[in-house]
Amino acid sequence: MQKKEPAKTILTSRGKSTHEGPYTVEPSEGELYKTLANNLQVGVYIVQNRKFQFVNHQIQEYTGYTEEEMLEMNPSALIHSVDRKTAVKNAANMLKGLRATPYRYRLMTKQGQTRWIMETVTPITFRAERAILGNCIDITEQKEAKKSLREMDALKASILDAIPQAVVGLQNRRINFANTAVEEVFGWHPEDLIGKSVTVFYRNEEEAEEIGSHFYSTLEHQRTFVSEFNCRRKDGRDILCRMRSSRIGQKLTKERRIVITYEDITEQRMAEEELANSREQLRNLSIYLQSVREKESTRIAREIHDELGQSLTAIQMDLAWLDAHLPPGDLSLSTKVQRMKGLVDTTVDSVHRISTELRPILLDDLGLTAAMEWQVQEFEGRTGVRCEARLDCKESSVEKDLATTLFRIFQETLTNVARHAGATLVKVRLTQKGNELRLDVSDNGKGITPEQAGDPKSFGIVGIRERVNLWGGSVSINGKPQKGTTIRVRIPLALPVGAT
Ligand SMILES: Nc1ncnc2c1ncn2[C@@H]1O[C@H](COP(=O)(O)OP(=O)(O)O)[C@@H](O)[C@H]1O
Ligand SMILES: [Mg+2]
Repeated sequence: MQKKEPAKTILTSRGKSTHEGPYTVEPSEGELYKTLANNLQVGVYIVQNRKFQFVNHQIQEYTGYTEEEMLEMNPSALIHSVDRKTAVKNAANMLKGLRATPYRYRLMTKQGQTRWIMETVTPITFRAERAILGNCIDITEQKEAKKSLREMDALKASILDAIPQAVVGLQNRRINFANTAVEEVFGWHPEDLIGKSVTVFYRNEEEAEEIGSHFYSTLEHQRTFVSEFNCRRKDGRDILCRMRSSRIGQKLTKERRIVITYEDITEQRMAEEELANSREQLRNLSIYLQSVREKESTRIAREIHDELGQSLTAIQMDLAWLDAHLPPGDLSLSTKVQRMKGLVDTTVDSVHRISTELRPILLDDLGLTAAMEWQVQEFEGRTGVRCEARLDCKESSVEKDLATTLFRIFQETLTNVARHAGATLVKVRLTQKGNELRLDVSDNGKGITPEQAGDPKSFGIVGIRERVNLWGGSVSINGKPQKGTTIRVRIPLALPVGAT
């Protein structure tokens, strides 16, 4: 035998329950309706003579009151005071058949919260008397969702208007959206653009066609695309734009809905070009100044060497003659001549040193390694710091201007060692590795700091970097405290542009 299901307690109006135990007889039709009403996801109630006669579970949820409490209440007392009059009127109209659509009002819950309710009412007969059957749902969440959706839309619109780039939405190449920045970028009012072909932004039909096919074909297989194109403003002025486009949706649909942003980069591009130009000019000027300086030094060195050298040699010869023809026994004259001879000898040395420093004739006559070797000896002699130099490179592969550059760099590094390092030993290596010329100079002094090496006011070092840059090379300067400083210069041996 099949067991009977235990009965559900059927709540009745006015708080009485019909059955307390399991069903043994089939429920009446009225009880069935009540069961039905209590299982609905909408609020259902019956009002008669301004009193609830029935309230289902759902409406108790909405209001927060129990059935007992509600059955004692005046139904309109539940409605928010602001909405009460209208709600009652709407209900009356609906009962009279003057209104067909549901109406909304705010309900005050037992806990004092406000809930939005959407409701319909129908006149019925209940226990042989006229009554109202009410049907309502809580639409608070929907309302809030709608509100936040509206806020979201407003936010999106203000974001779009805050963007300095022009943003347009396209559908089959027609503009269906434009932000306010289109006015700034293109000189068009956003409203005037709606419905127009995006061609209005371009210089002519052909270019518009080309840009369009470029974008659409790329957006077939990727979501976004960035490119630069020439565009035209409403006033006819041409501008260069960086354009970013992205398709709307997972793939490009038949309507080809895309969004494009246009950023006017005309001025930016011009500034970049100007910067590049002035860099190039500076570089050329620097090359020019250095070559002028070297030429000038060479000329002065020659003149000092030749003119002064010749005169001094003549004086030396005259002094020798004078010495030989002095009347014998005149000690004071002889001493004077000896002193003059000594003076002229040191002057010859000075002239030689000055002219060599201005422009080592060795560099022109015998080449880089010979000039460096001479510089090493001169350095050791002058400073007392030992200098070990290993110089192997093919003279033929180092052209004259590069030899000058390397020699000047070498001079500056040695001067720095003498002035700043406090070293006792310097090691110099000049090597050629493939197509690269390498000059390494390291000392065992106190070590340069990174700040000193990177200081833009360290003009000696800046000068080294400048010279190396002109040849497309690189410099690294490293110091270890109390261990020393190493400077490495690398120069590619391919002919650099402009450095001739
Ligand atoms: N070999 C070195 N050892 C230690 N310090 C050095 C060395 N070379 C350069 N420096 C430091 O780096 C600074 C910058 O050098 P540099 O640009 O040639 O300028 P300057 O020689 O005119 O002072 C120097 O003032 C010095 O403090
Ligand atoms: Mg220096």
